[in-house]
Amino acid sequence: MVACSSGPQTNNSSVDQRVEDLLAKMTLEEKLGQLNQVSAMDNLEDMAAQIRMGRVGSILNGVGAARINVLQRVAVEETRLGIPILMSRDVIHGYKTIAPIPLGQAASFDLDAVQEAARIAAIEAATDGVRWTFSPMIDIARDARWGRIAEGYGEDTYLTSQMGVATIRGYQGDDLSDPTSIAACAKHFCGYGASEGGRDYNSANIPPRQLLDVYLPPFKAAAKAGAATYMTSFNEIDGVPSTANAYLLKTQLRDEWHSDAMVVTDWASSAEMLAHGNCFDRADVAAQSINAGVDMEMVAETFIQNLPDLIKDGRVKMSTVDNAVRNVLRLKFRLGLFDNPYVDENKNVAYSPEFIEKTLKLTTESAILLKNDNKTLPFSSKVKTIALVGPMADAAYEQSGTWTFDGEAEHTITPLKALQSLEGVKVLYEPALTHCRDQKAAGIASAVAKAKQADVVVCVVGEEAIMSGEAHSLADINLYGKQKDLIEALSKTGKPLVTVIMAGRPLTIAKQIEESNALLYMFHPGTTGGTALADLLFGKAVPSGKTPVTFPYMVGQVPIYYNHKNTGRPAAGTELLIDQTPVGAGQTSLGCSSYWLDAGYGPLFPFGYGLSYTTFEYSNVKLSATELKVNDTLKVTFDLANTGEYDATEICQLYVRDLVGSVTRPVKELKGFKRVALKAGEKKQVEFELPISELAFTTLDMQNRVEPGDFKLWVAANSDDNSNEASFTVK
Ligand code: GLC
Repeated sequence: MVACSSGPQTNNSSVDQRVEDLLAKMTLEEKLGQLNQVSAMDNLEDMAAQIRMGRVGSILNGVGAARINVLQRVAVEETRLGIPILMSRDVIHGYKTIAPIPLGQAASFDLDAVQEAARIAAIEAATDGVRWTFSPMIDIARDARWGRIAEGYGEDTYLTSQMGVATIRGYQGDDLSDPTSIAACAKHFCGYGASEGGRDYNSANIPPRQLLDVYLPPFKAAAKAGAATYMTSFNEIDGVPSTANAYLLKTQLRDEWHSDAMVVTDWASSAEMLAHGNCFDRADVAAQSINAGVDMEMVAETFIQNLPDLIKDGRVKMSTVDNAVRNVLRLKFRLGLFDNPYVDENKNVAYSPEFIEKTLKLTTESAILLKNDNKTLPFSSKVKTIALVGPMADAAYEQSGTWTFDGEAEHTITPLKALQSLEGVKVLYEPALTHCRDQKAAGIASAVAKAKQADVVVCVVGEEAIMSGEAHSLADINLYGKQKDLIEALSKTGKPLVTVIMAGRPLTIAKQIEESNALLYMFHPGTTGGTALADLLFGKAVPSGKTPVTFPYMVGQVPIYYNHKNTGRPAAGTELLIDQTPVGAGQTSLGCSSYWLDAGYGPLFPFGYGLSYTTFEYSNVKLSATELKVNDTLKVTFDLANTGEYDATEICQLYVRDLVGSVTRPVKELKGFKRVALKAGEKKQVEFELPISELAFTTLDMQNRVEPGDFKLWVAANSDDNSNEASFTVK
């Protein structure tokens, strides 16, 4: 065994120098081994044999410090150059301590808390030997039918960009070589959320300006934040699968954004181009992928099997392979794997009290209060008996949502566990349904019976974890099974009914909103979900979450989102609906505007919407100037008052509209948000800073710039709130 000559002896030489020294020593087989990521095998010896043969650059889904050290020792001590393996895992919203799914985290609009959650995930994962996560998922999603809406930060480009950067910072820390830092992965690059019909893996037909102004910016922000890796998406864009899309992987990632990140394919997304039909055979797959800019191939093995001949045939240059290997080796050096390849097997940080406490804060902030009639919430001290019903009231595994690989259900605090731990509260528990998809209604009667014995009813329903996430798209997004019947039956008891929905997407819940006195939405809240709920129900915490995605009134409205275009015939909102339309109505008697006869025009809840136990008042909007140049920064100030009885936090939002452009412009775009804590009765001046350069968009001549003209802006409680408007002009 030759010790890796670029090993510890020259720690202080630049990473790039160490990469070049090592690359110069590598055979073709050793180079191709670095581009090959394999899925962990159950049999350690089989895995070790692959490593000894130099076929493994990275392993995904191998976890456990001891197990990883065994494999790492084989790589470092039993191969010619001793290149360490990069261990990877989908740590999507926590490793052991599970935070809310990313869609829930986005509802907090709390970048610090989201960064903190990623830091916790990194520490827990790295302590277990994982140094690369396939997160953040920063796909813009405007379609609630798409199961993977759960994994991203919703429909807005600005919010998603900010959340992605916070998550990357949390994972990577200040120094990637710190043993608790893990490499982030900006995925899925790109346009996956535009899968037609919300059907996962489907084609995405994204026009160039929309790609540049809606879908790419979060990935550009990730590059600026130093995302260590990118993952190509399964989908095609207008006929080009992302794994062979040089416009994405070279023109944008390298030429425009100057990123030196390592690019990995998604799971077999390279070989799946045979099914897509843009590759003739596996050799063509390997050639198209690596020539488009892919560095590492996840599990498909077309690189390691075909590149030797492709190089011989001149279809792939050796320099292309060397560049890919450079990107892999650079990442491993930056992670400190050459200097510290092994994991401390005696450390256990999982579920520490600090991690639980910080996660609880984010989980509480992620809950969205969508209705609270007659101050049903928070419960007063008069509430002594609670009927806790529903299939999600004690569903530890389901409550953590999709992509929960390593968090253990026994550590999860469910609503039942949390409420039963409260002093002086009697809990009458009845799941009524065995699971969210249960079609048997027999249990509803006993839930109603318990409701009649209680002071209040808390009904926890929603989606099982399997009902969202990858490959789990839905054509209808109502509450499934007999959950609707359960809520209807409970509402007829006349008892105060608080409905709690734990789901991986917005559901069409108009009827349940009507039937409930109060409704809290918790996108799969994770480990501390029950405690967060109990704190919110009894006012120990006050809801602050806001919708990171539009809630459709009906699934037929999808895709529906706030930053839409105005069209030439915008709805007035006063149009007659189908049941108001007279029989024999004349062809044009209803007017001709853009709305649905059976669903009207607007959503059930707009983007950025959420209630509190208190009320807030926005006033006195002032601009630092009303005429500005492109390089100026506009200061917007306004007064925010807490006009209610509870200390609380408001998520203030700044929206802008470019009234006229060389191409049509969205009716609104989020350009800022702030969490502002106010005591009951307190009033504070709040300020937003808006660099005018952030109003740039892709113009008619495909340039990215700000066009002079008139703009409107709003400081608002949500994207439908137009009550505090101001105007300015860009010269
Ligand atoms: C999956 C997902 C991707 C994930 C990868 C590894 O198919 O699309 O998000 O990171 O494979 O599990």
